[in-house]
Amino acid sequence: MGDIRIAVIGMGYVGLTSGVAFAKHGFKSVCTTTTPTKAEKLNRGTPPFYEPGLGELVKDLVNKGTLSGSIDNIKAVKESDITFICVGTPSLPDGSADLSYIVASTKDIAQALKGHKSYHLVVAKSTIPPRTTEDLILPLLEKYSGKKVGLDFGLCMNPEFLRQGQAVHDSLYPDRIVIGEYDKKSGDLLENIYKNFTCPKLHCGIREAELIKYAANSLLALKISFANEFARISEKLKVDVYKVMEGVGYDFRINPKFLDAGCGFGGSCFPKDVNAIKVLANKVGVNTPLLDAILTTNQIQPNHLVELTKKAIGELKGKTVALLGLSFKPNTEDTRGTRALPIIKKLYEEGAKVKVYDPKATENFRPLTNLPLEYCEDWKEALQNADVAVIQSDWEEIRNITPETFKKLLKKPVIVDGRRTYDPTEMESIGVKYYGIGWKNQP
Ligand code: UGA
Repeated sequence: MGDIRIAVIGMGYVGLTSGVAFAKHGFKSVCTTTTPTKAEKLNRGTPPFYEPGLGELVKDLVNKGTLSGSIDNIKAVKESDITFICVGTPSLPDGSADLSYIVASTKDIAQALKGHKSYHLVVAKSTIPPRTTEDLILPLLEKYSGKKVGLDFGLCMNPEFLRQGQAVHDSLYPDRIVIGEYDKKSGDLLENIYKNFTCPKLHCGIREAELIKYAANSLLALKISFANEFARISEKLKVDVYKVMEGVGYDFRINPKFLDAGCGFGGSCFPKDVNAIKVLANKVGVNTPLLDAILTTNQIQPNHLVELTKKAIGELKGKTVALLGLSFKPNTEDTRGTRALPIIKKLYEEGAKVKVYDPKATENFRPLTNLPLEYCEDWKEALQNADVAVIQSDWEEIRNITPETFKKLLKKPVIVDGRRTYDPTEMESIGVKYYGIGWKNQP
């Protein structure tokens, strides 16, 4: 098994953590990127982005020689037996998936397969709309390699379900592995790679595998939007939505995960993927009122948080807001789709001045807006003399701020929580005015 060599095209969260997981399981793995500095960094044993736990693993695997980085897709594929396509599929302006990186990397793979003597397995891991593997990747591979699928090379679609911030855990211990196979030979070969992973493995068609990924992300996003709608209902009824969802989540048919109400889901996946499958469904003549509602509800939440802030401290004009957390969730420096951006824009529309702090994401946030934010070195600086603290992502460091500290630093101790970061009763017991999404005491 150790003889099988793996090429991973793409060095983002999916590509690098997949490469790490394969290397950890004994396969010599090379991850490619178009950015030379990223490959150099990886070859020095450092991941090109922050992800908890990844640094130690990368260092170890690079030192052992099982993991390396490269900017040469063709060489990487030529020197391997299996290639995973893990490039990004960002949104186009109409919400559909931009497949240009898929096209470019597939052409490189085909080019490499041209002179290949032995059978090679190509696996699409990127999130791609159903039919992309069969209608785009397959024909490109055959056209530019002159080889035949099923004969000279195999083809699979193997979606990835890892969460940023927990990417190492999720790629080493996935809860299932979906193997969408062109034919049995391809599927069996891929299953062999995963033979030491103990989770359930589902063999299915390629298009099913593609759609499983969109369906899974849409259902998770739906759970969040559902909790958010109930949060707004709960606030009016003076009910704690977290208690409501706890009671709902104990039902084994539902489960308690992803029912945390807040200022909405961000990230590079949920907003993009729900949009992409909605656009695709509409294109093929299917109405999607449910998918539409997931996105509409998500757009309501940031404005709603600002409305709560307004109610909590009165007109925002001339007020200073300390906004804590710029990343789309804790434990990542990623700011794609972060709810911090619409919240901050709305706060400025209302005439507030905003001081911001994030443990890791400040540099990634800066290019997203020209608004005259005050970027702070630490949360103390952000809270000092602000009229209110608004919490956007609940990093542990932010979670650990005590009620006493809020009292000491803020002009008046008022918190508007977009993530239920704190225990409201603890805050209220020492005189901090605590408001937030889905909390029963409303301003
Ligand atoms: C998500 C999925 O959870 C992964 O399974 C999937 O592989 C990944 O997308 C992907 O398609 O690549 P990720 O975007 O990294 O992972 O982060 P999540 O932990 O899912 O959080 C997404 C957003 O939802 C965050 O803004 C988070 O704050 C929010 N969220 C999450 C809630 O508002 N409430 C919840 O209960 C859970």
